[in-house]
Amino acid sequence: MTTPRRDIRFILNDREVRLSDVKSSDSLLDHLRIAQNLRGTKEGCAEGDCGACTVLVGRRAEGGIVYETVNACIRLLASVDLCHVVTIEHLRGRDGGLHPVQQAMVDFHGSQCGFCTPGFVMSLYALLMGNPSPTKHEIEVALQGNLCRCTGYSPIIRAAQAAAEEGAFDDAIVTERDSVLAKLAALDDGARVELTVGEDRVYLPSSVADFAELLAGNPEATIVAGSTDVGLWVTKFMRDISPVIFINHLEELRRIEVTEAGITLGAGVSYSDAEPLIVEHFPMLSTFWRRIGGWQVRNMGTVGGNVANGSPIGDTPPMLIALSAQMTLRSSKGSRVIAVEDFFIDYGKQDRAKDEFVESIFIPAPERGAMIATHKLSKRRDEDISSVCGAFYVTLDGDKIATARIAYGGMAATPKRAKAVEAALIGQEWTEQTIADALSAYAEDYQPLTDWRASKEYRATAAANLLRRFYLENTGTPATVIRGTAA
Ligand SMILES: Cc1cc2nc3c(=O)[nH]c(=O)nc-3n(C[C@H](O)[C@H](O)[C@H](O)COP(=O)(O)OP(=O)(O)OC[C@H]3O[C@@H](n4cnc5c(N)ncnc54)[C@H](O)[C@@H]3O)c2cc1C
Ligand code: FES
Ligand code: FES
Repeated sequence: MTTPRRDIRFILNDREVRLSDVKSSDSLLDHLRIAQNLRGTKEGCAEGDCGACTVLVGRRAEGGIVYETVNACIRLLASVDLCHVVTIEHLRGRDGGLHPVQQAMVDFHGSQCGFCTPGFVMSLYALLMGNPSPTKHEIEVALQGNLCRCTGYSPIIRAAQAAAEEGAFDDAIVTERDSVLAKLAALDDGARVELTVGEDRVYLPSSVADFAELLAGNPEATIVAGSTDVGLWVTKFMRDISPVIFINHLEELRRIEVTEAGITLGAGVSYSDAEPLIVEHFPMLSTFWRRIGGWQVRNMGTVGGNVANGSPIGDTPPMLIALSAQMTLRSSKGSRVIAVEDFFIDYGKQDRAKDEFVESIFIPAPERGAMIATHKLSKRRDEDISSVCGAFYVTLDGDKIATARIAYGGMAATPKRAKAVEAALIGQEWTEQTIADALSAYAEDYQPLTDWRASKEYRATAAANLLRRFYLENTGTPATVIRGTAA
């Protein structure tokens, strides 16, 4: 192994930064505001919900730089190694004055107290960078993770539309892209990073094999991918997470493979990375997909992290279980494949040894004509955790139900299949009466709890109603033919 590097290196706006005294729990936001005195980026909620701290993080990919909005409050500083961090201070117009996005916010009264405004500007800038002519809906989706208490969203959307009419931007982020790319490449020595500050330890492995080796030597380490869960352990629970192994820079874990047999998602694939695939191969799941977190959270959060955290209310496990997905767990000793369903043993207990990590998730191609849906119920439409999330996969043989795989989150201590309901459906005709007859089986499958998100009565009623909704959506000929990967 080459000698480990003892610092992290990144480009902040227009200058290079090298830091060796970075602790595992140091946030990007604190570094920007306190160490760098860049106070344009605000702190509101410190939990990824309000978007006041939105900045751009650019990483090298596919021969260029991919810029994404992130919540700096829960993005941990060490994870921006070899990235380009862009804050609101770097946005300028051609003459050094306001950038067209900022000017449009002024012209269309998109700001009052102004606290949220830098975050909105960064989200709108990122949207227009990738999509110069967004629809109103696309603007709304880009702003899901930004909260404004004063202005209301209509003026901000009008500002976005006006900024789009300005045409392509020629600001520093655009004109200096090649030189930033060259600088990032020059900073990358391919080495593992190891930082030690007192007892605190940070590791950035150089490869997946190096990750496996590091984890074998440090089985107590906290694995950090997108930090959209772990970030809150730090900001809300003040947990000491050291030693930490950061993995979101590992391109090998971001691989996506589509074959006749199905889709393999590396554990580090973010929701945003996976979105085009979902839209193409599972169009009926795309609305659900855009209801996971807000845009910044989908840019950071990974499917692997959503499964690995073992939460009973994570949104992707019910869907993955209904789709018969499998996952590969890897350690320095080798790999094993298990059904995602079998990963969840009990509340807080998963089938993962301390030296294992999730390497990838495989979603088999559904049968042609399979009826598929995932429905999420939450108190707020956007940027909210599910009270109940139901996932359905049903195939018919003539009029009769041949396969039924139904799984819920929020109904038990783990994401769990409704096996009694499935048994009540299989072999029966696909009719309203069959659905009505199966509903009583929910009581066998689940004894939901009451908590601050929902009462047990609400959960029981809503879960049954989701099956009725699924039936009504798919009455008559199956409406959800899978494109692309169908056998
Ligand atoms: C504002 C906000 C909104 C959210 N909305 C939703 C939502 O709508 N639906 C939803 O389901 N979740 C939501 N979340 C939770 C979170 O975004 C997801 O659970 C996300 O998928 C976690 O992925 P991550 O990469 O950020 O994980 P991290 O925070 O990096 O890690 C999460 C856990 O997984 C472990 N881990 C990560 N990767 C691996 C790996 N490869 N192998 C083994 N262990 C690993 C970590 O050690 C940790 O225990 C939200 C979070 C925030 C902050
Ligand atoms: S401060 Fe609210 S999302 Fe970061
Ligand atoms: S302008 Fe005050 S919070 Fe948005």
